[in-house]
Amino acid sequence: MQKIEWGKLPFGYFQTDYNVRCYYRDGKWGEIEVSSSTQISIHMAATCLHYGQEAFEGMKAYRGKDNKIRLFRWEENAKRMQRSADGILMARVPEELFHEMVMKAVKLNEKYVPPYGHGAALYIRPLLIGTGVQVGVNPAKEYLFMVFVGPVGPYFKEGFNPVTMQIVRDFDRAAPLGTGHIKVGGNYAGSLQASERAKAEGYASVLFLEAKEKKYIDEAGPANFFGIKDNTYITPKSPSILPSITNMSLMQIAEDMGLKVERRPVPVEELETFEEAGACGTAAIISPIGKIVERESGKTYTFGDTANAGPISTQLFKKLQGIQYGDEPDPHGWVSIVE
Ligand code: PLP
Ligand code: COI
Repeated sequence: MQKIEWGKLPFGYFQTDYNVRCYYRDGKWGEIEVSSSTQISIHMAATCLHYGQEAFEGMKAYRGKDNKIRLFRWEENAKRMQRSADGILMARVPEELFHEMVMKAVKLNEKYVPPYGHGAALYIRPLLIGTGVQVGVNPAKEYLFMVFVGPVGPYFKEGFNPVTMQIVRDFDRAAPLGTGHIKVGGNYAGSLQASERAKAEGYASVLFLEAKEKKYIDEAGPANFFGIKDNTYITPKSPSILPSITNMSLMQIAEDMGLKVERRPVPVEELETFEEAGACGTAAIISPIGKIVERESGKTYTFGDTANAGPISTQLFKKLQGIQYGDEPDPHGWVSIVE
């Protein structure tokens, strides 16, 4: 194995030794297969290629001071992948199969789980695709579920330093009654133009608005949004947002810390009143937001001193990571040890 600089890992693809796969055929899931190939062979008329029958998940395994490897709330990822499967009529991956394959992929690649103390983790990418052949617009009868993993650092290069985000009005990420609430590839394809333009203009990400009225904040490209004011954790509620497991956990942690928690529509103008703002997700962890600029009008919102994370975001970040790496008690039973 090549020498890895654990503290300098970007968030990106990293080849490890094994991945695991399972095929759904004739109405049932087959045996789990272990592969050391990065390639898959599928029919050119597979529905994932034409009609977007594809869903994925993102999870992390964390190595603690005690050298144990911990998974964070994998059941929630398993359930969300089932909701994604239901949403675009794919075969559901049973929770036990999801768990077994994730565990296997982590254990087989154990040496790639970053050592404690570098802020890095093993990113786990479960992927479900329609492999059955269709030319008419119909769901496939065959599916492939696979899990690959790789060590990663923070999603935004700024790490736990504030980023700048851009609000756009000429692109939507997801339709109100569309697929924004599930983790399917089409949502990300739909976000690419706005996201690449934002990056070219110097922003870490787009902050998308809900598509119907364009009055309220939905979420960032790869992460949910939250704001802090008056000792309250506020996060948008909308049918086109992906229910983030990190956000769900932060709402609980905030409540445990004695903050009020509000999940409700968040009008863009309310940004003016926030003392702190952030993006949260498995990949992003908490990414503090220092500044948000509305692309059309140039109107700019700033949070705190814009160069440092605010005190509440910092407390939330420390508590969340503390639980994930096993430094803090886990009062809600979120962590499972990979044995
Ligand atoms: N929102 C979007 C669009 C995402 O892709 C992700 C990443 O999974 C999140 C939010 C954060 O979700 P989670 O905290 O479950 O990783
Ligand atoms: C995650 O946070 O795990 C994600 O999947 C975000 C992104 C890389 C799409």
